Amino acid sequence: MDIKPLDAPFGCEVIGLDINAGISAEAFKPVRAAFEEYSVVVIRGEPLNDDSQIAFSEHFGPCEKTLGGNPAAGSVFARQSNLDIKTGESIPLDDRRMFYQRANMMWHADSAFKPRASLCSILSAREIPSAGGNTEIASTRLAYAALMPAQQAEVDDLYAEYSLVWSRSLIGYQFTEQERATMHRVQHKIVRANPVNGAKSMLLGAHADHIVGWDIDRGRALLSDLSAHTTRPEFYFAHTWRDGDVMIWDNRACLHRATPYDAGAERRLMQRTTISDISDEALDPTAIAA
Ligand code: OGA
Ligand code: MN
Repeated sequence: MDIKPLDAPFGCEVIGLDINAGISAEAFKPVRAAFEEYSVVVIRGEPLNDDSQIAFSEHFGPCEKTLGGNPAAGSVFARQSNLDIKTGESIPLDDRRMFYQRANMMWHADSAFKPRASLCSILSAREIPSAGGNTEIASTRLAYAALMPAQQAEVDDLYAEYSLVWSRSLIGYQFTEQERATMHRVQHKIVRANPVNGAKSMLLGAHADHIVGWDIDRGRALLSDLSAHTTRPEFYFAHTWRDGDVMIWDNRACLHRATPYDAGAERRLMQRTTISDISDEALDPTAIAA
């Protein structure tokens, strides 16, 4: 097995690891170490199926159960696709389900709005369009390191409130009262240090609503400045999918988004598992219903 840095500002490729056949805890150790160091790990030519994806994911920790909204809700998969989960046919572009896909085109960190934040997501390509449909990833670790010391000090001890109601409102999506009752307004620390190497990163993106204790507009302005800073070209890259690719990203240290493709004419099916961060600091003890 070999680990090769990507031709990008961060991230690596793991070569020669047969994850589809299942790997031992011993074989997983260098993958986990590479994940902590590089924030993104790409494995190519290892087409996972649902069972092998779950088995590989569990090396990182427990998989989240997907909540309502996603067609795969109730399972451990979040399905990113323009194909109907039952029939496999294309979903009409004006269907409510396609809202979900549009939300993925905003920079975000998965599950930031949950009381327990996520460690990482694992996305596997099952069907890919001939053009577009890339995934772009930005490093909040590199972005933090490039802030001036005074800017770092300003953000270091802040908490933000994260909310799915807020992020979906940005694309004009309204939840019903009933749906809102199942959701939370959660708080997480914006800046966290990696437990292995101490590198600091930031939890930003569309789900970050405002800064706790700050005037709402002032907090939103800072969050939007920090996200804009993070997504500068020197801190991000686009992953162009090939059949059988698997990508793992660190939700503690990255933002990501999907890019458009011709969803009327092409097929795209990606399966995501989302692994919980089981550390104490990933749990918001104050989470209250939205
Ligand atoms: C996700 C996501 C981006 C993509 O699965 O969490 O944002 O390119 N996906 O499908
Ligand atoms: Mn996502």
